[in-house]
Amino acid sequence: MIQELNHQFGLGQQLVFREHASGFIVGEVDSSLSSGQFFLHGAHLASYRPKSQSEDLIFMSEKSFFEPGKAIRGGVLICFPWFGPHPSDSSAPAHGLVRTTSWEMISGQLDGDVVVVRMACELDGLSLVYEMRFGSDLKLSFTAENTSPVSQSCELALHTYFDLKDATTAQVHGLEQIGFFDKVSSTHKPPSGKPIRFDRETDSVYIGEVNELRIDDPARGRTIVVRPENSQSTVVWNPWIAKSQKMADFGDDEYQRMCCVETARVGENQLKLDAGTQETVAVTISVA
Ligand code: BG6
Repeated sequence: MIQELNHQFGLGQQLVFREHASGFIVGEVDSSLSSGQFFLHGAHLASYRPKSQSEDLIFMSEKSFFEPGKAIRGGVLICFPWFGPHPSDSSAPAHGLVRTTSWEMISGQLDGDVVVVRMACELDGLSLVYEMRFGSDLKLSFTAENTSPVSQSCELALHTYFDLKDATTAQVHGLEQIGFFDKVSSTHKPPSGKPIRFDRETDSVYIGEVNELRIDDPARGRTIVVRPENSQSTVVWNPWIAKSQKMADFGDDEYQRMCCVETARVGENQLKLDAGTQETVAVTISVA
């Protein structure tokens, strides 16, 4: 399997497949522009570091499970075709089906020095393609095509864990003028007019389009720029102390070193796919 993947999609040192200690298949990117890592399990991006940076932009939990049927903790997870608990079936897994599905490689190519990886996954009546472009920035593009004869509504989140030196001094800019649903208090809140700071459990769903978000991490002296495309919602999450302690696959103090800012289409802004149509939602991540 590894040999076959390297033969079909490998790009010399720029894209190599190997078996992870868990048995999962991992793709490793190393080009003149950046390095990165992804798993076929969930089409999960686990690492991205432009060569200008000494530290990863993406956070991975040291306690993550790497087990079939379980989501990896950290990285960029694809939540689809529902976000959070299933709307009617409490036995269905949180955040949908594809983050625990093994995706298939469909291409590994070079566009100049940019390593372009494409993976696919089939769900009932939906054909999904995910593209990762590892350049001096990282572009992730998710496309869902409705191959069924009826319309389908689907939620999506590119659930991105950003690596921070210190979440308690970090700020997220770009959502100041957007109202949100606060999942912690289960209330709708008006625009705060202020950047987001992390000083308690944060779990907010912002409903509205944004073109650019900036995550300032002054402790590291780094600002991460997030540019969503065709996203009409943004989820911001930090589990803080009590929730971190409850998660078996997350370290008790790891909340201090991450925040999630998720490019999404959820709730009233979910994707509405008529029969035979497709939509792409993308995000570009870079360092200012
Ligand atoms: C966030 C949700 O996107 O993901 C939170 O808004 C949730 O409510 C978090 O707790 C983590 O979810 P999970 O299923 O990966 O533990």
